Amino acid sequence: MTEAILRVEGLTKHYGGLQAVRGVSFDVAPGTITGLIGPNGAGKTTTFNMIAGAQKPTAGKVYLSGRDVTGLQTNQLYHQGLLRTFQLSHEYGKLSSLENLMVAGANQTGENIFMNWIASGRVKQREQQVLEKAHDTLEFLGLTHVTNELAGRLSGGQKKLLELGRTMMSDARLILLDEPGAGVNPTLMLKVADMIRKLNEERGYTFCIIEHDMDLIASLCKETIVLAEGQVLTKGTMEAIRQDERVIDAYFGGDVVE
Ligand SMILES: Nc1ncnc2c1ncn2[C@@H]1O[C@H](COP(=O)(O)OP(=O)(O)OP(=O)(O)O)[C@@H](O)[C@H]1O
Ligand SMILES: [Mg+2]
Repeated sequence: MTEAILRVEGLTKHYGGLQAVRGVSFDVAPGTITGLIGPNGAGKTTTFNMIAGAQKPTAGKVYLSGRDVTGLQTNQLYHQGLLRTFQLSHEYGKLSSLENLMVAGANQTGENIFMNWIASGRVKQREQQVLEKAHDTLEFLGLTHVTNELAGRLSGGQKKLLELGRTMMSDARLILLDEPGAGVNPTLMLKVADMIRKLNEERGYTFCIIEHDMDLIASLCKETIVLAEGQVLTKGTMEAIRQDERVIDAYFGGDVVE
């Protein structure tokens, strides 16, 4: 069996008395697209935050390709091939679309002033590569017409595409997407789904996706994990999950008035 690119073991997060995540364990196999669903407040984003080093787990472990990375910072994880996007778009509003992508592409090499000074030739060459890749990425996303537009002025859907573009600029192997479809119209949503599929198939990225749109998850993911009240309720295909009484209860149980 191939080693999991991501393994989460007993991940737990308490905020004071609130147990947001309670002993969550799952594996993500390399080259797959795995869904993470569950009702509002189930602990999905908190789980991502702990995996991505944005929040320290109260307990539990995170492994990337077998290596214990629990408690590492986001930028250290980035260098180990892990990248996450945010539930709300996260662009630099005062930079253009092109510049946003270039920043994402340049960050990963850890270039600094010292490098610039001792190896200016090499950096220039690298800048040129990053520039070309940024243009290619904009074309891939259908955003060439907003190349020089300030990212802060893009529509919500365009910002989502730009966010995907930032992942394409990196050499990440594992990408955590938090609600890539949020605020995106259905047509654009299909496009975002296509992009994710293409990045998975053609470029070998592994994805783990939080999403409330069940159809999107069903079309992309072979394996989906259902979280409810901070725990893994079940895992499997969306086909099986949709018929699971416990899942229906978790989404609607207790809250349905009529
Ligand atoms: N920084 C925080 N401080 C205190 N409580 C928090 C914090 N972040 C999240 N929580 C709580 O933890 C629980 C899980 O939140 P989380 O954001 O992980 O849910 P989610 O599954 O991503 O929900 P949604 O689908 O609405 O995005 C919620 O009850 C939330 O109020
Ligand atoms: Mg969330």
